[in-house]
Amino acid sequence: MKGKVEIKSPEGKLGVLIPGIGAVSTTFMAGVFLARKGLGKPFGSLTQMGTIRLGKRTEKRVPRIKDFVELAELNDLVFAGWDIFPDNAYEAAVKAGVLRKEHLEPVRDELEQIKPMPAVFDRNYVKKLDGPNKKTGSNKYELALKLMDDIKKFKEENSLNRLVMIWCASTEIYLKPEPVHQTIESLEKAMKENHPAIAPSMVYAYAAIKSGVPFINGAPNLTVDIPAMVELARQHNVPIAGKDFKTGQTLMKTIVAPGLKARLLGLQGWFSTNILGNRDGEVLDDPESFKTKEESKLGALEYILQPEIYPELYGKFYHKVRINYYPPRGDNKEGWDNIDIFGWLGYPMQIKIDFLCRDSILAAPIVLDLVLFMDLAQRAGFRGIQEWLSFYFKTPMCAPELYPEHDLFIQLMKLKNTLRYIKGEELITHLGLEYYD
Ligand SMILES: NC(=O)c1ccc[n+]([C@@H]2O[C@H](COP(=O)([O-])OP(=O)(O)OC[C@H]3O[C@@H](n4cnc5c(N)ncnc54)[C@H](O)[C@@H]3O)[C@@H](O)[C@H]2O)c1
Repeated sequence: MKGKVEIKSPEGKLGVLIPGIGAVSTTFMAGVFLARKGLGKPFGSLTQMGTIRLGKRTEKRVPRIKDFVELAELNDLVFAGWDIFPDNAYEAAVKAGVLRKEHLEPVRDELEQIKPMPAVFDRNYVKKLDGPNKKTGSNKYELALKLMDDIKKFKEENSLNRLVMIWCASTEIYLKPEPVHQTIESLEKAMKENHPAIAPSMVYAYAAIKSGVPFINGAPNLTVDIPAMVELARQHNVPIAGKDFKTGQTLMKTIVAPGLKARLLGLQGWFSTNILGNRDGEVLDDPESFKTKEESKLGALEYILQPEIYPELYGKFYHKVRINYYPPRGDNKEGWDNIDIFGWLGYPMQIKIDFLCRDSILAAPIVLDLVLFMDLAQRAGFRGIQEWLSFYFKTPMCAPELYPEHDLFIQLMKLKNTLRYIKGEELITHLGLEYYD
């Protein structure tokens, strides 16, 4: 199957709007500034370092992804954001403690210029935080209009050609889809009536979509994963994607679990525990925010292992995920996995993973790739849920009649085949029989 999609060229500047000037977003921006100056390499980023095979293996056509599809250049990115704390991005980066001085000082000027706009925030949705830099308004709809003003001003003042918004703010409390989330009318009415089912992240998402700006949800909040937002995005020809960046432990899970399944090794139990000490960890110390994260982290194994198809192997495994706030570790999380598996004749075995990872270091390239790919999606005329970007998310959004694809390797194939499709190249099936005719 071949496609060929008309793609508008990425001319001019691309504005990146970020709710949440914290550990992830400052690490991302500092990295982009360093890469621009040749002072750092964007390791982990598919758009900057990845390649894509085209045609037959014998053709040896393997361009870099950024040379294959028309992506915005790092030099063309302009940043702005909102936060409840007035610290500029340099101050926020110092407080986050992810990057060392040697990486922050060379880009200090650029970071200092990013001063957060007053946020739309409500403590009822993030119990552990509060700060002074907030917007006021009589209802949530009015607050959305104020965000739309911010967006318009940022675009005009910086002569931007296009925009993308990416949620890098704290995880909100667990919300379930409710009747008010069903239609655009009920959503807008609920915003005007300050309905509790409308979280601040939804106010940002609404403002973005109404402004024609693609929206990406990096946290596990419900946000755009509701029918009203999906419909709004379709009506405004805006791509949306989410949710929850797939970084540390879930990344490992979606690497290891497909391997176990491929070899038909059974699973008795998978116990995952984490300690982390950054602000994200503090927010997740609140049971209601943790519940949102927990739901997001639990889904992957069920979908990958398909217990309904393999009841003897995966019918009754025990799965537990814990996160504990432990200040000494800062952003350097430690995630342990104990995996009880069984093989031939049911003999038990164990796998232990101890991942000493750096949360924001793993998240930053994901932010960059998502920003560039969502801008590409919009220029290619894609709208609504962008399932081909599932690769980057713990809980990938998908059409209501589908189940989400969690297997990292299938996700990567889906992503690359979408790029091939956009450019009118043959999709790769890995069949390979043609080489032996
Ligand atoms: N780092 C990772 O590996 C990773 C992985 C998946 C998801 N995430 C999610 O990404 C988000 C950011 O993580 P982080 O480590 O940068 O957290 P952080 O606490 O360092 O930064 C979040 C920032 O958002 C601000 N904020 C909270 N509510 C806001 C609002 N309504 N409007 C504007 N700003 C608001 C906070 O003040 C804070 O500065 C979190 O939701 C986290 O769960 C991170």
